[in-house]
Amino acid sequence: MKMKRVLSGIQPSGKLHLGNLVGALSNWVKLQQQYDCFFFIADLHALTTGYENVKNLPEDTLDVAVDLLSVGLDPKKCTIFKQSDVPEHAELHLLLSMITPLPWLERVPTYKSKINELKDKDLGTYGFLGYPVLQAADILIYQADLVPVGEDQLPHIELTREIARRFNFFYKKVFKEPQELLAEFPVLPGIDGRKMSKSYGNTIALSDPEDLVREKVNMMITDPARVTKKDLGHPEVCTVFDYHGIFNKGQVDKIAAECRSAERGCVECKKEFLADLLEFLSPIRKRRAEILKNRKLVEEMLVTGMVRAKSEATLTLLEAKRAMGLIG
Ligand code: TRP
Ligand code: SF4
Repeated sequence: MKMKRVLSGIQPSGKLHLGNLVGALSNWVKLQQQYDCFFFIADLHALTTGYENVKNLPEDTLDVAVDLLSVGLDPKKCTIFKQSDVPEHAELHLLLSMITPLPWLERVPTYKSKINELKDKDLGTYGFLGYPVLQAADILIYQADLVPVGEDQLPHIELTREIARRFNFFYKKVFKEPQELLAEFPVLPGIDGRKMSKSYGNTIALSDPEDLVREKVNMMITDPARVTKKDLGHPEVCTVFDYHGIFNKGQVDKIAAECRSAERGCVECKKEFLADLLEFLSPIRKRRAEILKNRKLVEEMLVTGMVRAKSEATLTLLEAKRAMGLIG
């Protein structure tokens, strides 16, 4: 039986962090064992919001590639590539744009919310409105069965199916309708207790040196009601406790009890967490060091990925062009 195909993308918005790992990436690492996986760095999508400042884009893209390898994605098991290296995405995007009704795009919840969220940017562009059409092209061009994404992306997957259906109905059944693959993963808080996000500046990056990780853990907010160790603690309001729940699962009940009864102080509690975190990051750090010894290999991997991706993308694009009357 043919392996099911999985496809997902990540925007190169700078160094990846623990939240990305606990969220999407650790899931990708598992999926590569079971599926025919295509993972790509969505540099074209980065332009839809970041078109004014592209200075760091080449470096950000390469950083993400290094990060993907360092967490354990294996180019022998999956295909890793850069979106713009496969221009077939852009061509299919154009074809799909012909049949996508404007109201479908204006209705996408991320459209208005992002415009409000990123007020400092002018997102009244053609490209930004078309963001989900490009995403649909990314997915449909590989005939993906499954798309691992976070909940925020569900409207995009739904729209992808609608566009596929419309195309198949108008012309000929060319596209497979993909399904989302929602992983149940915890949302990791940032060091200030809000959601971990680059835009809040509260992340722990996978590439942060140990000293910086130590510094950040020391800055983490614990239960503000605990002025001294004698004060009884409330683990449910403590960010460090949230992390214990992810990195030290077996011990959470014990930690909670010791915190509530003030047997455990925040200083030792953080120390314990820091040790766990550094141990968790250690294999990632080692792999990164290996990879950085030979950056050329990362670029070569992207070329290999591009060739494989392109060979698949070309087939679907040809079929789509034929269906649309562009090839006789
Ligand atoms: N929009 C996705 C995000 O911001 C990234 C992405 C682009 C993607 N194209 C994709 C995800 C195709 C899955 C499939 O997270
Ligand atoms: Fe948080 Fe640990 Fe302090 Fe309790 S003892 S408040 S869990 S850091």
